[in-house]
Amino acid sequence: MDYSKFIGRNSELFKASEIRELLKVVEARKVISFAGGYPDPQTLPRESLARIAYEVILNQGDKALQYAPTKGVTVFRETLLKFLRNVGVKVAEEDDVIVTTGSQQGLDLISRTIIDPGDYIITENPTYLAALSAFRTARPNIVGIPVDEYGMKTEVLEDRLRELRSQGRRVKFVYTIPVAHNPTGITMSLERKKHLVELASQFDFLIFEDDPYSFFVFDEADVTKLKTLDSEGRVVYLGTLSKILSPGLRIGWVLGHKQIIDVFERAKQSMDLQTSTLSQYIAKEAIERGVVAETIEGAKRTYRVKRDAMVESLSENMVENSWWVKPVGGLFIMVWLPEQIDTKEMLTEAANEGVVYVPGASFFVDGSGKNTMRLNFSYPKIEEIRTGVEIIGRVVKRRIKGG
Ligand SMILES: Cc1ncc(COP(=O)(O)O)c(C=O)c1O
Repeated sequence: MDYSKFIGRNSELFKASEIRELLKVVEARKVISFAGGYPDPQTLPRESLARIAYEVILNQGDKALQYAPTKGVTVFRETLLKFLRNVGVKVAEEDDVIVTTGSQQGLDLISRTIIDPGDYIITENPTYLAALSAFRTARPNIVGIPVDEYGMKTEVLEDRLRELRSQGRRVKFVYTIPVAHNPTGITMSLERKKHLVELASQFDFLIFEDDPYSFFVFDEADVTKLKTLDSEGRVVYLGTLSKILSPGLRIGWVLGHKQIIDVFERAKQSMDLQTSTLSQYIAKEAIERGVVAETIEGAKRTYRVKRDAMVESLSENMVENSWWVKPVGGLFIMVWLPEQIDTKEMLTEAANEGVVYVPGASFFVDGSGKNTMRLNFSYPKIEEIRTGVEIIGRVVKRRIKGG
């Protein structure tokens, strides 16, 4: 039977993720993968989580195995707010927090409740692919702002805002990943953060600050939250335990003015009623017993070494006119190759030689970035990092020679 006659037009907005398609290939064959965004399995605190899960189910099972409020388990939300305050996130009196099923659900909530078709929204260019996919289902106009080693170029943003205003267009929000940005690994300077918050006030828009990575930066870096710089309640802050405890628990959150969180709560109710109660109870204990802090320390040590290995291998193997920023945290490095290289075309050749990456173009909002690729350094082993980068270097050189 042909099922297409049963499928709604909206389904066309949901495109298969290039990364997920790629990971299928990787699973089928033994190749080095720089593709996904998986934490190093060694950093996942298996024993602690097993103990906590056992105790939580046994001793608090009457609550932990039950339904919970859509906004999240109250005792977990309290623990979470304490944790966020401790890492320098300002929680204002009018703020509220909702626990989401990964921060990805926070992005989906933005798409469902904030964006009207035709709205103007702004992101870094490039930006997190799955944020673009989530936003696109609401049919906005997405304007991309270029980045350099200090993050989003806010002077370009200011020009674009003026231009849009002169055309009678209002920008609803800016979505940004200020620290250890996905896919570029770049961190925004404090000066630019301040400028962005000022622009939000001047041009009357919201900022969605997506912050999965600032908890485990490995070098000295400014991790001041936009949320903390904001005195007008314009910044809504998204976070996750995926990279600092376990992505499998699916615990994320959105912190912002209660008027917005109320809207999110209503929308979430029809999406999944609530995020897993059991995961929330486990996460609460993991934060309180210091398991998250330990995981962060372990991840920092592991990822610094892996990041260094990748940066070193890139310096040794990439051709002239390639560019990347050494990330202070996160899981990724984006490499800009010479203009004539198309990384999507090059991928089959690289995969045949034993390594895969994510071609960068899909992270760009404007069809540019064909000569870029995103490399993940958290998942592969050190030897794989060195070998994989060597292979990519060889393939690039061959392509350049071949014209
Ligand atoms: C910038 C960014 N936002 C959100 C997410 C989603 O993470 P999760 O849904 O696991 O919290 C990721 C995952 O890699 C990410 O890199």
